[in-house]
Amino acid sequence: MKNFKTLQWIGDCDGFLELTDQRKLPAQFAAIQCKTPQQLYEAIKTLAIRGAPAIGVAAAFGICLAAQETEKLKLAEALSHIEKKADFLSKSRPTAVNLFWALERMKNKARSFSAQNPDAEVKDLKRCLLDEAQKIYNEDVEMCCKIGVNGERFIPDGSAILTHCNAGALATAGDGTALAAVFEAQRKGKKFRVYVDETRPLLQGARLTTWELRQAGIDVTLICDSMAGALMKDGKINAVFVGADRIAANGDTANKIGTYSLSVLAKAHNIPFYVAAPSSTFDLKLKNGSQIPIEQRQPQEVINYMNVQTAPQDINVYNPAFDVTPAENISAIITENGIIQQPTEEKIRKIIGQV
Ligand code: MRU
Repeated sequence: MKNFKTLQWIGDCDGFLELTDQRKLPAQFAAIQCKTPQQLYEAIKTLAIRGAPAIGVAAAFGICLAAQETEKLKLAEALSHIEKKADFLSKSRPTAVNLFWALERMKNKARSFSAQNPDAEVKDLKRCLLDEAQKIYNEDVEMCCKIGVNGERFIPDGSAILTHCNAGALATAGDGTALAAVFEAQRKGKKFRVYVDETRPLLQGARLTTWELRQAGIDVTLICDSMAGALMKDGKINAVFVGADRIAANGDTANKIGTYSLSVLAKAHNIPFYVAAPSSTFDLKLKNGSQIPIEQRQPQEVINYMNVQTAPQDINVYNPAFDVTPAENISAIITENGIIQQPTEEKIRKIIGQV
């Protein structure tokens, strides 16, 4: 289905990470190369790469870039350098837990390798870390397929669904989360329409989701964020599908700002509201959504609409990148392990496999 790579590692242990530059889409399809952890940090912070699973996979490769800087060091020093760079990368964005999940997994791999192979050389550690990052990449592709298969049943033939932001191929190594269900429904020959919120301020819906869906030949209609309620009132939406950046133990879900409002609208109009996310997006250490850190971004993103000034330069701006949808507004969470209907902590722990 996907005819481009959101991100890919080029070469062997001394290679680099190549990313589709999402800041330039849809006007330009261009790649950027990250050869240092610093370059990757900038790419994540400025949203050249974005979407929770994709950030996690990219960060895993970021550890391989950090390992390249340890050539002249002893194994213990190399490990300490890698841990420092993992800490640095973890500061790029605060909300999507996949970033921290992937960095933790890579650090643990480096630690266990060093403990089990105290006489190994740094080149062996680099190999071990690249293998682990590739594994994370492949698992991400696989989980997208499974989420697609699990979620497709919620898109009835002849229906119209609404999505927000971009939870598609650009947000993952594979086909996406919420949009994986859309692609799977199309594969099954279903006919349906997708309405896409433009998703102010950074327009991930308008720029990225419409681009992806059009390429796949899906019937897609772009709307301004403020139009969703009227569409629902007119009976034009049968279901809402969104992704997630972090899901707390009770099912409260952080996703792109505007998702909460959509969930309230969906509830008011009796429309099912689905969240699609892999197990790496759950943060079961957090009891509920009030504990999820919400990224605050620059006022300029709101004052300027795609580099055109649309408000006084010195106006006060509130610009949180995410909001939290309470579990009670969510009809089901679709994961690679199965579907969590009306999510509760007990059901989540059962499906996500942690007690
Ligand atoms: O700020 P972004 O573009 O990284 O926000 C992304 C989202 O909110 C997505 O909906 C979420 O990461 C799900 S990705 C499959």
